[in-house]
Amino acid sequence: MRDDVKEILFSEEAITKRVKELADEINNDYKGKELVVVGVLKGSVLFASELIKNIEIPCEIDFMAVSSYGNSTETSGVVRILKDLDHGIEGKNILIVEDIVDTGITLNYLSKYLQGRGANSISIATLLNKPARRAVDVDVKYEGFIVPDEFIVGYGIDYAEKYRNLPFIGILDPKVYRK
Ligand code: IMP
Ligand code: MG
Repeated sequence: MRDDVKEILFSEEAITKRVKELADEINNDYKGKELVVVGVLKGSVLFASELIKNIEIPCEIDFMAVSSYGNSTETSGVVRILKDLDHGIEGKNILIVEDIVDTGITLNYLSKYLQGRGANSISIATLLNKPARRAVDVDVKYEGFIVPDEFIVGYGIDYAEKYRNLPFIGILDPKVYRK
């Protein structure tokens, strides 16, 4: 499996350290408040659990699962909800936790959707940001690392449901999807 990774971008140690820094920012920004952490399944699970371990303010945890229609180069903005939140979020402070922001379509849709459900505030934490491919505007408040326009896997992020269990983040060797 590791042979399919062309280049390691971030080691497990680097990720853990960076996620702790993001949690510190969040602890500081939400001092005296409460938070609902909404993880976007499945890519965000490793990031979300590492982040939550370091959050020191009272927080609830919920998950959503979504899928984008068509291929991700289209800017249709159409996103399908596969799993909705378990609990209402009226008046709550929401932190959406995502693995990677690419075109931005998913998070642009999700933020509007959660706003429409009466959240008091919504901010976005993403482990990775790929700004080169942005098609719609997304306000990313907490960002782990910027990545180049390559296909990324590891630390929750998949190619065809595989590689999520790699403890590091790397660039998938194109030989994997070209064969
Ligand atoms: P967006 O709506 O285009 O921003 O899509 C974001 C979603 O596409 C992410 O949550 C990932 O599931 C997926 N994605 C985008 N770039 C990559 C990548 O490099 N590797 C794996 N999945 C990716
Ligand atoms: Mg995702």
